[in-house]
Amino acid sequence: MEFKKTICCIGAGYVGGPTMAVIALKCPEYKVEVVDIDEAKIAKWNSDRLPIFEPGLEEVIRATRGKNLFFHTNMAQAIKESEVIFVSVNTPTKEHGEGAGMAADLRYWESTARTIREHAEGHKIVVEKSTLPVRTADAMAKILCNFSDCKSFEIVSNPEFLAEGSAIKDLLEPDRVLIGARDTEKGRQAALAIEEIYLHWVPKERILLSSVWSSELSKLVSNALLAQRISSINSITPLCEITGADIREVSRAAGMDSRIGGKFLNASVGFGGSCFKKDILNLVYIARSYGLEEVAAYWEWVVRMNEYQKHRFVKTMIRAMFNTLANKRICLFGFAFKANTSDTRETPALYITQKLLEEDASVVITDPKALENARSDLKGLSGNIEFVEDPYEAAKGSDAIAVITEWELYRDLDYGRIYDTMQKPAFIFDGRNILDHKALHSLGFQVYPLGARPLLHW
Ligand SMILES: NC(=O)c1ccc[n+]([C@@H]2O[C@H](COP(=O)([O-])OP(=O)(O)OC[C@H]3O[C@@H](n4cnc5c(N)ncnc54)[C@H](O)[C@@H]3O)[C@@H](O)[C@H]2O)c1
Repeated sequence: MEFKKTICCIGAGYVGGPTMAVIALKCPEYKVEVVDIDEAKIAKWNSDRLPIFEPGLEEVIRATRGKNLFFHTNMAQAIKESEVIFVSVNTPTKEHGEGAGMAADLRYWESTARTIREHAEGHKIVVEKSTLPVRTADAMAKILCNFSDCKSFEIVSNPEFLAEGSAIKDLLEPDRVLIGARDTEKGRQAALAIEEIYLHWVPKERILLSSVWSSELSKLVSNALLAQRISSINSITPLCEITGADIREVSRAAGMDSRIGGKFLNASVGFGGSCFKKDILNLVYIARSYGLEEVAAYWEWVVRMNEYQKHRFVKTMIRAMFNTLANKRICLFGFAFKANTSDTRETPALYITQKLLEEDASVVITDPKALENARSDLKGLSGNIEFVEDPYEAAKGSDAIAVITEWELYRDLDYGRIYDTMQKPAFIFDGRNILDHKALHSLGFQVYPLGARPLLHW
């Protein structure tokens, strides 16, 4: 079939795969190629067992793969053929060297830029889909443009705002699409070329055009603001537990103020995921590198509060269970960092498992989608860990259940049946406040909600 245009995406991860699948679905006249250096991942994209779980993703892949959506590892071919090259490689936090633990590690980005420079022919629009520090496009321009004679590049920032767990819905109905380009004729043309793709399904008023720097910074700021709301409400949970206030009532009352809004105000064991922590630390690093210490310190506390919340959760468990977890069996309900995803990057469950093992507890992990990732994350940890798919089997013989992920299925279990198979006293620590605490208490459980007084039998 003759395609009107070819576009590609380098990086077939949580962003690259779903984003390109939706573009392929909405732009059937485009050929969309998704490439990656990870051959095993590409093989999974071409199989019935996709490398990631996202509600609705399988259907979109089924409708497009092999028609106008292609997954492969031939980077040179994809770059040569494409007018527009999206780059969605990972940008983790630097692990060593200058800025370690804070700054973004741009090695994958830079190596991609060099690959593009090597294989490109003619004019290419290079789109930053990855989340990058403000002014990265400048560095990219230097790598791409300095050495090429017969090649030309325009760099556009088009950060992705999808949330894992609702990625397909977010891509189909985005709150906004942001396109940052240079204020030059070539920059404006490139922005219009990217806008043309989204106009296939996104209303024009939802497409924002801005400078490259505003676009890069907007993505970091959006994630920082979302995480800040979680840390803000979490910071109130210990106060509720001491005073007898209930965080659910407080969030509801505060969130009904239309100036505040109710979203992202649920107290939890802490945020996770590959983005929030790294993007805030990146913002902190940038602010500090410009000498803005107060700005850096302000945002750094969002991450510190999150660490505190995870730590507090484990401390509550230890105190509640008579100051020793040795030889106790603790069942974690959920390992994914949030519901509806298999992603376990930066999940609070990892920290909690490590701490429980340090206390000589046995840990049983159950999760409907993330057990494979959990196994790989915990490989090499010493201690007694079991992975059990069925939550009833997982809870059997346990002293405590800790709800870590807000999977819907955990709301609807038969807790009477679970209670009967557990050690007594049987504890429940609800790290997401998703269960019916009064009902659990009347079944006999010792119930520890977050941000409210525990419901106990003594
Ligand atoms: N995951 C999210 O919810 C989300 C949301 C918005 C933005 N982002 C941002 O999008 C970017 C990608 O995130 P992700 O979660 O998709 O990461 P990911 O780790 O799932 O995927 C990145 C992919 O890039 C590939 N890759 C790395 N270097 C490469 C190279 N040189 N050539 C080809 N492929 C290469 C990796 O093999 C991997 O498959 C990050 O900057 C992230 O901050 C993520």
